[in-house]
Amino acid sequence: MQSSPCPQSGERSRHVLAHAWAHALAHALAHGDPAALGMAAGSGEPTATRPATSEPSGEETAIPTARHVAIIMDGNGRWAQQRGLPRIAGHKQGAVAVRDTVRAARRLGLSALTLYAFSEQNWGRPLDEVSGLMQLLHDYVVDERSEILENGIRLRTIGNITRLPAFVRRPLESLIADSAHQSGMTLSLALSYGGRESITDAARSLLRAVAEGTLQPEDIDEDMVSAAMQTADLPPVDLIIRTSGERRISNFLLWEGVHARFYTTPCLWPDFNQKELLLALRQSHLLQTQSSPLPTAPTT
Ligand code: FPP
Repeated sequence: MQSSPCPQSGERSRHVLAHAWAHALAHALAHGDPAALGMAAGSGEPTATRPATSEPSGEETAIPTARHVAIIMDGNGRWAQQRGLPRIAGHKQGAVAVRDTVRAARRLGLSALTLYAFSEQNWGRPLDEVSGLMQLLHDYVVDERSEILENGIRLRTIGNITRLPAFVRRPLESLIADSAHQSGMTLSLALSYGGRESITDAARSLLRAVAEGTLQPEDIDEDMVSAAMQTADLPPVDLIIRTSGERRISNFLLWEGVHARFYTTPCLWPDFNQKELLLALRQSHLLQTQSSPLPTAPTT
């Protein structure tokens, strides 16, 4: 087995990480303390021993200033190939990384997380790989339903989901409807998605209004195009992360990501985790240090 190229890789934690853990890690990342970022042997826990949240001492804690992070999840195939496994094994482990990254994003307080799960171009992959990805999507939506609902996450999609098979669309649409009122974090899955295709759709809807006589072409401005996009109700994209070292944007959020920072990591998507997310935010200057309150002096 090859060693992972993830700068922050370690054994994937098998349990849900504590909130204080995230704060300790954010603290370590904010201060660039490599020792604190090390993993305790075999435990999957960081060696930072004093979570900033548990002992208010006037120290500083890091919190993300980014509201909307979007990720091009790349490298599943290479992850599997490196282990002599079929490509679908990489996608399966990629789905585990999706679950962990959604948890981490929610815990860190992001408003929006957008994941490029299946591009319009991905329909051109071999039939068995497409079927395997559809099954994983179905399983994800079914398995994560209660966690999404219990954690205030609003699930939605961008892209043309009418192309998805009914066995995926049914549970997906049901969870979208049932989570529509939640406001903790919006998780957008880009499915059968293309950036150019989505801009074309927005143009088409504006032209329909022009044809109906409710809109004048000279009144169309950038805000109006933004409002016609599927992402209209999301905050602007602050950061686009691409795993596996690629530096291409690959038809992702072409309109919405125009002012976003771009971060690439050699880490393959199945190895991505909370530490990698925090590192991406830190390297992109999207972590802010915040002073913990000093303990109040006892009055005598
Ligand atoms: C790119 O890796 C990844 C994809 C095309 C699909 C992403 C899908 C998942 C992460 C799993 C299922 C998704 C959810 C939301 C449960 P690649 O196959 O292009 O990798 P390669 O470049 O190494 O071949």
